[in-house]
Amino acid sequence: MTETRTKISLPYLFEKVERGEPITWLTCYDFPTAHLQEQAGIEMILVGDSLGMTMLGYDSTLPVKMDDMIRHAGAVRRGAPNVFLVGDMPYMSYQPGNEMAVLNAGRFMAEAGCDAIKLEGGAAMAPRIRAITDAGIPAIGHLGLTPQSVAALGGFRLQGKSAALAKTIMDDAKALEQAGAVAILLELVPDRLCKLITERAENCIILGLGSGPHAHGQLLIYHDMFGLYPKFKPKMAKTFGNAGEVILKGLKAYHDEVKAGAFPARENWFGMQDAEFEGLKKLLK
Ligand code: KIV
Repeated sequence: MTETRTKISLPYLFEKVERGEPITWLTCYDFPTAHLQEQAGIEMILVGDSLGMTMLGYDSTLPVKMDDMIRHAGAVRRGAPNVFLVGDMPYMSYQPGNEMAVLNAGRFMAEAGCDAIKLEGGAAMAPRIRAITDAGIPAIGHLGLTPQSVAALGGFRLQGKSAALAKTIMDDAKALEQAGAVAILLELVPDRLCKLITERAENCIILGLGSGPHAHGQLLIYHDMFGLYPKFKPKMAKTFGNAGEVILKGLKAYHDEVKAGAFPARENWFGMQDAEFEGLKKLLK
């Protein structure tokens, strides 16, 4: 049964923060999953460039293009018309300059019906956040483990472990906030660093991924939650069900039933009236 939900807006999310109610955020890349997430009450969806890995099978997010993102974001919007939808700016769609950043952010809003965009990077990306915000588009920052810079960061590992690196992340968060970011995602930073940044945020929602319980909300990668990514499972992810196992079992059963002649059964096909069939045979003579 499909339930209709009210549209989730930025003021609604800020009210949640004000009331101390944690926000739920998940990645999603397709129409049927978006429908399920909306029905489950998830408040925010990120169409992440992680789709390069989870959906397209690349080893990193770098090959993902704006056109890939727009196509998937549009499908998600059609499945979840009321969630707060965030489009993730792919590699080199914003780094080269403010004008390119604004034009690509605008595509997420105009062509896919997004409510905001997200981009990776610290103080160096503050001018992009400012330009996008000045164009009237809500912008979300992303600090800590930023997959587009994974080569520079030395792999998928905890960020901000030392006092000095933690201070840099705090300064980056302030720079993004001052540039107008409505929210910041902290990925894979220590819980105490996430807590400090959350406590010091003014007018900026802090969301965590693998960064402990103190943020205003949590993000998870959908494929990690349900055993759907075959290459690895990050430590920070919790498995909430093994859809991969369920689907694999079903696929094997289909394969076996076709081989054994058990599928299709009588209820799985349509017959033809005798008179029409006789007529067809005559036509073939
Ligand atoms: O692309 C994505 O899904 C992301 C998450 C890893 C945070 O940016």
